[in-house]
Amino acid sequence: MYQLSTAVTSTIATVAKLNILEPHQWISASLLSGVRSLSEMFTRGGHGIGTAYLEDPRLRAAYLTYYVPVNLGKVQLLLEELRPVLPRCIDKEFRVLDLGGGPGTGALAVLDWCCAQFLPPASSIRMTVVDRSPEVLRLCTELWQVYARHHHDHPIGTLQTAVCNLERGLPPVLRVEGQDSGYHLIIVQNLLSELFTGSLDSIGQRTEFVRQLLGCLVADGSLMLIEPALRSASRALHQVRDNILAGLHCSVFSPCLHEQPCPALIKPDDWCHEERRWETPAWIAQIDDEVGFIKDALKFSYVILRKDGKTLVSRNEDCRRVVSELRILKGEKRVWLCDATGRSELGRQDKERSPSNVAFDDWHRGAIVRVSEIVRKEKNGRPAVLGRILSSGRAEVIRPA
Ligand SMILES: C[S@@+](CC[C@H](N)C(=O)[O-])C[C@H]1O[C@@H](n2cnc3c(N)ncnc32)[C@H](O)[C@@H]1O
Repeated sequence: MYQLSTAVTSTIATVAKLNILEPHQWISASLLSGVRSLSEMFTRGGHGIGTAYLEDPRLRAAYLTYYVPVNLGKVQLLLEELRPVLPRCIDKEFRVLDLGGGPGTGALAVLDWCCAQFLPPASSIRMTVVDRSPEVLRLCTELWQVYARHHHDHPIGTLQTAVCNLERGLPPVLRVEGQDSGYHLIIVQNLLSELFTGSLDSIGQRTEFVRQLLGCLVADGSLMLIEPALRSASRALHQVRDNILAGLHCSVFSPCLHEQPCPALIKPDDWCHEERRWETPAWIAQIDDEVGFIKDALKFSYVILRKDGKTLVSRNEDCRRVVSELRILKGEKRVWLCDATGRSELGRQDKERSPSNVAFDDWHRGAIVRVSEIVRKEKNGRPAVLGRILSSGRAEVIRPA
């Protein structure tokens, strides 16, 4: 189960002035009201989106305390997926861009990851964080410096910040020239759904923005797009994904196992998202108790794009992705799967449980799985949407989420 490092929690606690050693601590009414206001804004599109709302000290403090730990965890889970393709950068820079980075959530996630994993080494990082809010970028610099001070045994690379309204284009400081220039990793977390919200063609403009970012990557770089696990934000991300792939500029590293149009867009109520387990920090659980939220899992939708065709699992394997939880019905378990042919439901009746398909019991949202012998009953002369594994069938987990 994912857990934030002590280095990260102590850095956030120092800057947010929390005492993390206290199991139960005093949380101010202002902080709680800031968390409520941000949640209202993020989930219902309330007043503030499309403005530099993190200039407000009350919202900034709430964001740092409640949202940075949660969002940093998501980036680190995806860095784990990217581990086999991250550059080693022994003698060269590891150039990372965190766009709409706010307090540098992605930047701190990468720094902490590199300090723990050594490859790429933290000393190789050249981090650039861009945001429209100058105050939140000051907070970003403070977090970076406090982390560096707490962990002076690791030499760490450089951070630069740039104030810019990204709706007006990328700032000149990001310009890449020459063959080996460009970024190895670009993180765009919880930004896309805040861009071009007033436009009649917000999806088209976000697509163009992402297309420009692909042009800023080195040939083997990764572009990480993360959005909230809400239906509207996730579906908008799926649409941008489809538009980008239709232009054949890149392919999906993860989560999708194909470049076909996203099947979640066929029905208006569907969307694809992740739900990963984590150890909830005590202060987050305490805020949840006070405001009535639940952050017991890391929920998000995402797509990682690359230009070199590399993928999380080989496309030759007969793999599918689990895109629902494992539903336990009377006498049967079922999941929804996604592959290049679309979404389909698969079940296994309890009476068909066998040594070859027992792994079905462990299938979970986000897992990559393989299955043999799917049986479909005929319904009105056509095979039913629901398929079933029989006792002779084989169910495997190729990669857990
Ligand atoms: C929800 S926060 C995300 C912060 C960080 N990426 C994270 O996930 O924790 C959205 C950030 O995007 C920034 N932002 C929104 N619209 C922007 C724009 N047009 N140009 C630059 N930054 C923008 C906001 O100031 C805010 O810091």
